[in-house]
Amino acid sequence: MYYHKILVIGGGLAGLRAAIESAPRVDTAIISQVHPVRSHSGAAQGGVNASLANNPAAADDNWEKHGFDTVKGSDYLADQDAAEFMTKEAAPCIIEMEHWGCPFSRTDEGKIAQRPFGGAGYPRTCYATDKTGLYMLHTLWERSVKLDVPLYEDRVLVDVVLEGGACRGVICWNMKTGELEPFMAEAVIFASGGSGQIYARSTNALISSGSALAAAYRRGVPIKDMEFIQFHPTSLFGTNILMTEGARGEGGYLINSLGERFMSKYAPKVMELGPRDIVSRSIQTEINEGRGIDGKDYVYLDLRHLGREKILERLPGIRDLAMNFVGVDPIDNPVPIQPGQHYTMGGIDTDVDGATKFRGLYAAGECGCVSVHGANRLGGNSLLDTVVFGKRSGAVAAEYVLSKKTEKEGEAAVQKCLREAKERIQMLLDRNGPENHADIREEMKQTMIFKVGIFRSKKPMEEALAKIRELKERYQRITIQNKGKVYNVDLVRAQELEGMLDVAEAIVTGALKREESRGAHSRLDFKERDDVNFLKHTVATYSPSGPIITYSPVKITKYKPEARRY
Ligand code: FUM
Repeated sequence: MYYHKILVIGGGLAGLRAAIESAPRVDTAIISQVHPVRSHSGAAQGGVNASLANNPAAADDNWEKHGFDTVKGSDYLADQDAAEFMTKEAAPCIIEMEHWGCPFSRTDEGKIAQRPFGGAGYPRTCYATDKTGLYMLHTLWERSVKLDVPLYEDRVLVDVVLEGGACRGVICWNMKTGELEPFMAEAVIFASGGSGQIYARSTNALISSGSALAAAYRRGVPIKDMEFIQFHPTSLFGTNILMTEGARGEGGYLINSLGERFMSKYAPKVMELGPRDIVSRSIQTEINEGRGIDGKDYVYLDLRHLGREKILERLPGIRDLAMNFVGVDPIDNPVPIQPGQHYTMGGIDTDVDGATKFRGLYAAGECGCVSVHGANRLGGNSLLDTVVFGKRSGAVAAEYVLSKKTEKEGEAAVQKCLREAKERIQMLLDRNGPENHADIREEMKQTMIFKVGIFRSKKPMEEALAKIRELKERYQRITIQNKGKVYNVDLVRAQELEGMLDVAEAIVTGALKREESRGAHSRLDFKERDDVNFLKHTVATYSPSGPIITYSPVKITKYKPEARRY
């Protein structure tokens, strides 16, 4: 049995940042499905928010203004104490990244460059061309190597061990050997990313399945606000690869089939720099009303007027992607885009320290819900969330472990969980039914994007719920073709699908019960925000017959909810 005082699940930005914080004080190891520099954080492009006030147009920016933009952007569902904590910590965290060698782009005076992003009153998004996540990831990876943080890679989390209200460890699958492995710990920090693969048309990597979150959920860890799914306005038509918001931050236009900059109808003051929920709805409305290009499901992101030099300097990554995947050079031609699933605002229910209701169990980054993003996250706040709450959860977990009077409790619970996991996997391998898990996955993804997508209403969501339940039932009759041990991706995909269906069910159930429109949850049958009945977080607790939904209050400190206009 492996033993470390702290286990961090996930080697992306939140996980690395957590480990960097705890490792100098407490024995800490990282468990990751892929090598850390291949984590989905590396796909983040446009930047990270901090009120550094480096841009001349942001001379009077400060954390309070960032806090207000975040809360307003969240449609007042964010917990304001958490948003305040994040926006206060933003500047020191980014300066720390700079000191650790993150190669941010620079202003003429040599300061960290900042560009405008949607829903922000000031240009406060710090960037490294359009590969910010990748550069931050390499910076933190190097730092973790310097600190000699042990890494267990090619490990898929299959279960979390909870006993007597405390976390005792996890069970992982070693992809290289095909064996299940028990890990004991005093504390576990989940930093396993989002659940985007539950949806079709997602910008997320294949590893963003939400399967680790699902494992926790299935063991009784509550998940919060799962119905709030972000659709990024500009994903490449055909592949849904991200085309950064930075493209609009640098001045890019959105154009319909009539050649109109249609955002003038929806957000006349800020145009293409509205918050993501509003811009995605606007694009989808243009498409639904027949003004997509050639009547198809896309509009244009037009960068031509920015000029070759600016595109090459600031947006080289998306230029390459557009050229390689759709054969369009944005210097010469507009890029076909459509909204794509991008981010899970909800996640494992935590407090502002990343602590869950189980002692020694923490969550940070996209798999957690503090909540700072509420019903709609601002672009540039996800990278910030990873470093701020990664750091915080690492610090708090280390304190917790140092304060513990006993250690290595729960070995029997870990062994029991291992035995159960082995039996489950064997039963899965032994199934011999007519169903194909890849087909079930695809049906789930299509159901979610078309029935629980940008615009929602009761009937399609009821159909989605019935479909997800049918898929859960059909899942019991799958056959896994590959019975081998080494790198059995067939088995990994089949195993994770069970949890993804549970999470999908929680998303739809929460969405059906929320009879209002707020942020990214836009209901055609309940068009208005309803603060009287729904200014509250949705909390889903697993039960075999479906999620049990309860609600918890939103923390309001400074900003009284008001109408959200841009
Ligand atoms: O558009 C982007 O570059 C994505 C940024 C984010 O999701 O924060």
